Parts: sequence; C-alpha cells; structure tokens
Amino acid sequence: MAGYYSRLMSKVVYRYMEEDDLKAVLEIERASNPVPWSEKNFLDCLKKDYYCLIQEYQGKFSGFSITSFSLDEAHLLNIGVASRFRKRGLGTSLLDKLELAAKAMGCKKVVLEVRKSNTNAINLYKNNNFKQVGLRKEYYRSSPNYEKEDALLFSKTVKRKWMLI
Ligand SMILES: CC(C)(COP(=O)(O)OP(=O)(O)OC[C@H]1O[C@@H](n2cnc3c(N)ncnc32)[C@H](O)[C@@H]1OP(=O)(O)O)[C@@H](O)C(=O)NCCC(=O)NCCS
Repeated sequence: MAGYYSRLMSKVVYRYMEEDDLKAVLEIERASNPVPWSEKNFLDCLKKDYYCLIQEYQGKFSGFSITSFSLDEAHLLNIGVASRFRKRGLGTSLLDKLELAAKAMGCKKVVLEVRKSNTNAINLYKNNNFKQVGLRKEYYRSSPNYEKEDALLFSKTVKRKWMLI
C-alpha cells in the first residue's frame, strides 16, 4: 500500500483555489451534498483567505478542501473528490495535505463535522485516525427534499511541527 500511495502522490499536485475553479468545485459539491454550499459560500471562504486547496490528479481537477485555522485548531469545512476519481486514495491525500499545513501552523488538532448518514466520509475519517468526539443534534438544516440531520463531530490530535522560515 505504501508503494501504491507514493506512486499515486507522484501524480498529484496541489495549488490554491481561485475563483475560476469554482465551476468545477460546485459540480462536485452539487452532485454529492444534499444541501450544497452556494457559490457565495465558496467565494466567502476565498475572501476570508481560508486554506482552500485544489487537487489535480494527472493534470486533471480531482478534488478540493477548505479549512479554516484558529489559534490551535484546524477546522475542515468542506472536502470533495470528483466521483470518477474516488476510492483510490485521493481523499486521504487531501487529509494528509491539510494535516501537514495544520502542523506547520502550530495547530494541536483537526476537527470536522460530518452528516450521520455520510458513510463514505465517515470511513475516510476513521481510516485516517480521526475519532468521534461528539454529536451535534440537527446541525444540518432541512431543505425541500431533506430532513434536518445530526452531525458527528470528529477530531484528530496532531503534533506541532514548526517550520523554519
Ligand atoms: C468522502 C470522499 C472525499 C472520499 O474520497 P476518496 O477519494 O474516495 O477517499 P479515499 O480513496 O482516500 O478512501 C475512500 C475508500 O477508498 C479505499 N481506497 C483507497 N485507495 C484504494 C485503492 N487503491 N483501491 C481500492 N480502494 C481504495 C479506502 O480504503 C476507502 O475505503 P472505505 O470507504 O471502504 O473505507 C468522497 O467520497 C467524496 O467526495 N464524497 C462526497 C463529498 C463528501 O461527502 N464530503 C465530506 C463532507 S463532510
């Protein structure tokens, strides 16, 4: 698996998200989130200078993640991999990348909320050593087609790794 993962990584490139990426990002978001973020939600994250990453696999847009950093905590706000690129380690790579950033920023943990019904994402987090630390009742608001839903709160402790600059 380690060999597979390092070969995969040699085909993956990261860069910061720009407004021009939002069409592709929204395509993933609308196809996978029952109550998708709007374009404005993503624009606000860009304006606030959150850690907004674009992942490219073999030169093609494959995924994204959005993380906000506070004093000692990284909060993963959104993550998505295009459906044709799933189940090959790219979601794991996005988590690894943001964990590295969290360490360099001096964070002590990475936290996130996930829909109780989102088995794929829950498995991704568990496989990557996130632990469930809470439940937020009816955290996700209802929409015309969906009921309110609880969020599971996951957290992973990370060890600070100051970067020399
Ligand atoms: C959740 C999500 C980001 C996971 O992305 P992904 O790229 O499929 O993640 P990975 O490939 O790293 O891991 C997913 C699974 O693939 C498996 N996998 C990884 N590499 C593999 C390989 N080479 N061969 C076969 N399976 C593999 C993992 O073991 C894992 O299996 P499991 O789900 O049975 O535990 C993706 O499903 C997604 O975008 N979902 C919609 C958006 C979403 O729900 N976001 C979360 C909001 S909280």
